[in-house]
Amino acid sequence: MELYEAINARRSIRDFTDEAIPREVLSRIVGTAYQAPANDHFRDWHYIIVTDKATMRNVIAGVPQNLTVKDVDAMTFISDPVQKASYQIAVPKQYQMLIGAAAVIIPLMKKKADVLHPRDLSDLNCFASVWCGIEHVWLAAAAEGYGCNLRIPRGNEESIARKALGFPETYMIPCFIGIGRPAPDAVRTEQIEVNLEKQIHWNQF
Ligand SMILES: Cc1cc2nc3c(=O)[nH]c(=O)nc-3n(C[C@H](O)[C@H](O)[C@H](O)COP(=O)(O)O)c2cc1C
Repeated sequence: MELYEAINARRSIRDFTDEAIPREVLSRIVGTAYQAPANDHFRDWHYIIVTDKATMRNVIAGVPQNLTVKDVDAMTFISDPVQKASYQIAVPKQYQMLIGAAAVIIPLMKKKADVLHPRDLSDLNCFASVWCGIEHVWLAAAAEGYGCNLRIPRGNEESIARKALGFPETYMIPCFIGIGRPAPDAVRTEQIEVNLEKQIHWNQF
């Protein structure tokens, strides 16, 4: 698939078939992360690819399983109806979209600065870099005909995953990525319309 096609095909996928993904394909997809730009040139990220369901269950044991569309009503920062609809699709699926995936991919970022209390933007460079790689993974998955979702770990979700996977305290998880073959009826959220004429500026704001 051509790059622009993959970019346009990429959507968050939270409903999958039972199809497994061959190991070499998962390696190829995750390997693209290491072509991403990196602030310090090291690309010393690690990725853990979990395909074993029992391990998956242990890794995501902290992800809420009983959220419903009603929980979206309590999210007072949501104002736009398209945004609200996207949360109504996503929120109840946070656990299912990971456990129902062919694999859960866990990127690991070395903590080189206190990203939760940065002194300035450059303290967030390691975080920004790992995200560049995550987007490569998403696009490579789309190019291979697969779909991804992601969840940002909250509360004790990271420590539960650390215990299940045995990675050291010096690494943090920026997100969990669920990957698989999109189900024929996989829901794709309606997109907010962006007016490029208004949002892309030439020479001045
Ligand atoms: C930084 C970031 C955090 C996100 N967190 C979550 C999340 O916790 N759960 C989830 O289901 N989707 C999450 N998403 C996916 C967004 O909901 C999704 O990308 C957005 O609604 C646009 O839809 P699309 O990906 O289908 O184009 C996140 C995306 C980004 C970039």
